[in-house]
Amino acid sequence: MLELSGVSVDIAGIRVLRGVSLAVPPGGRVALIGRNGAGKTTTLRALMGLLPVREGRVALDGQDATTTPAHHRARLGIGYAPEERRLFGSFSVRENMLLPAEVLRLPRPETARRLEAVFTLLPELRELAPRRAAGLSGGQGKMVALGRALMVGTRAVLLDEPFQGLAPALAMRYAEALARLHQALPEVAILITESNPELLRSLVEATYVIERGEMAPA
Ligand SMILES: Nc1ncnc2c1ncn2[C@@H]1O[C@H](COP(=O)(O)OP(=O)(O)OP(=O)(O)O)[C@@H](O)[C@H]1O
Ligand SMILES: [Mg+2]
Repeated sequence: MLELSGVSVDIAGIRVLRGVSLAVPPGGRVALIGRNGAGKTTTLRALMGLLPVREGRVALDGQDATTTPAHHRARLGIGYAPEERRLFGSFSVRENMLLPAEVLRLPRPETARRLEAVFTLLPELRELAPRRAAGLSGGQGKMVALGRALMVGTRAVLLDEPFQGLAPALAMRYAEALARLHQALPEVAILITESNPELLRSLVEATYVIERGEMAPA
């Protein structure tokens, strides 16, 4: 279970999140919907430990994690696919996918096992693996970012607006990949942000809405 309770976050001295609460149960699929600037990315970054929490509490599996560093949360099995994919252009797709596992110093056999599991789930990544990340299309890059998040996200993946800018056919493929992910790995929770609630309706079981840094009725 990932939980934010009454979380407030300041950025550059300005309160950006005000008392945000949300819960993602194990294996749950949850949407966080909000317009541009509503606070979606900030919420995911707070959950990931990439921004300090001024008020409130972050809990992982019931344990307080409000001040747990980001790398430790990743080690607990939380993967994050940021909005701007942050792939290393001169590295291959495979190297980009392996990077978080190397940073976390996962044992080699475990890394190889996870890579194989991600390739099975997202077969297009196996084909893209030797390609330089710089040459990928936007949609391919999103798929790689999902694969990379899954390399560490054995419990949960946080996906920040993965559908943004995807052509309809690619958005469909991405949605299918998420459905396959849920079937193959039902224990992995998915928290996904979007500005358009319609897009995620068939993919999630619960929806939260954020407006100007505060939770609003869904
Ligand atoms: N580095 C920063 N400095 C100042 N203000 C910031 C910074 N990052 C975010 N903000 C402000 O915090 C608020 C929430 O931003 P956030 O990026 O979380 O929104 P979002 O819902 O992810 O928006 P988008 O849909 O555009 O990605 C916005 O008003 C934004 O201007
Ligand atoms: Mg954002």
